[in-house]
Amino acid sequence: MKKIISVVGARPNFMKVAPLYRAFKKYPDKIQHLVCHTGQHYDEKMSKIFFDELEMPKPDFYLGIGSGTHAEQIAGVMVAFEKVLQNEKPDLVLVVGDVNSTIACSLVASRFNIKVAHVEAGLRSFDRTMPEEINRILTDTIADYLFVTEQSGIDNLKQEGIPDGKIFFVGNVMIDSLVFYLSKIEKSDILRKLHCTKKDYILVTLHRPANVDTEEELKQLFEMLNRIADRRKIIFPIHPRTKNNLRKFHLINMVSDKIFLTEPLGYIEFISLIKNSLMIVTDSGGIQEESTYLQVPCITVRNNTERPVTVTVGTNRLIGTDTSKVELAVEEVLNGKIKKGNIPELWDGRAAERICKIIVEKLNE
Ligand code: UD1
Repeated sequence: MKKIISVVGARPNFMKVAPLYRAFKKYPDKIQHLVCHTGQHYDEKMSKIFFDELEMPKPDFYLGIGSGTHAEQIAGVMVAFEKVLQNEKPDLVLVVGDVNSTIACSLVASRFNIKVAHVEAGLRSFDRTMPEEINRILTDTIADYLFVTEQSGIDNLKQEGIPDGKIFFVGNVMIDSLVFYLSKIEKSDILRKLHCTKKDYILVTLHRPANVDTEEELKQLFEMLNRIADRRKIIFPIHPRTKNNLRKFHLINMVSDKIFLTEPLGYIEFISLIKNSLMIVTDSGGIQEESTYLQVPCITVRNNTERPVTVTVGTNRLIGTDTSKVELAVEEVLNGKIKKGNIPELWDGRAAERICKIIVEKLNE
């Protein structure tokens, strides 16, 4: 029996580990699969609701790290995770994505010579001012098994000298969750709750430090959103970082009453809002992928993306952070100029199955 500890920390991790949890359950005499939640995200709405909706068990280990500076978060996770590894001595630590918990746990595992699997490896924005980019590069350097969602991931890893034998093109576990819950998503009554109808609203999410951490940038973004809201209703489930900053810079009163700011939503309701929206304006990584799968126009308010397949194959358009350009792109969709997209290769709901099969083989070699 091999022991695997999967790590979750922040919101975008939960829907990636849920399908892996289900897939490992199919190997009851080969794999003991445990889940460690670092507590990087801890709110009911940023964390607990995802465990409930995604039918994940209570985590086997909860580190309770919470908010803090970059160094406090990473160091806190490392100290607490070291104890877990000392006690449990797993054969493999599995990490997903690019959040602070991802790199922190990979580093500790490598110190104990425990194998590391990185799911969603190889993505690169080539913007080293993003904390996630550093987390991605470092985690991939440490990892023994690198599971990739798109061709660019393979190219980037090879470019960085990672041997072919460590790289596995398996598809996208985030899409596994979406496919698995699609019928529930279609039954969600979130549209009725928010008094909207199909395709009559624009869904907005903005939370990247580069967009929301300075007063000037945040003000410009909301001036733009206010103008857009005069044309079409906006639904904006607001991330704690963005909400805190609106308060800190005394900008909360400038938000138009045509922009509906909601609390962060659960998984099923949020994906239902993506599916039924006219378009999405976002700076999230995951939403670029989910909108690509659901073939909804996505306008990305960033200068780069680590997920280029969403642009080359999917419905995503990388517009940059110049608000006049974003406004123009929104206008084009409102006028019916809509970019068509296809679903990327292997985004078929079966990535977790492929990953588990490879891990079981490798651990038993
Ligand atoms: C983190 C990830 C980012 C991911 C995002 C999704 C890193 C470097 N960044 O950024 O890649 O896209 O999660 O949400 O790991 N807060 C709460 N409640 C919570 C969690 C956070 O109120 O449950 C507040 C914190 O106090 C802090 C702010 O939100 O003020 C930011 O949280 P933090 O975990 O530092 O980073 P995110 O911006 O969420």
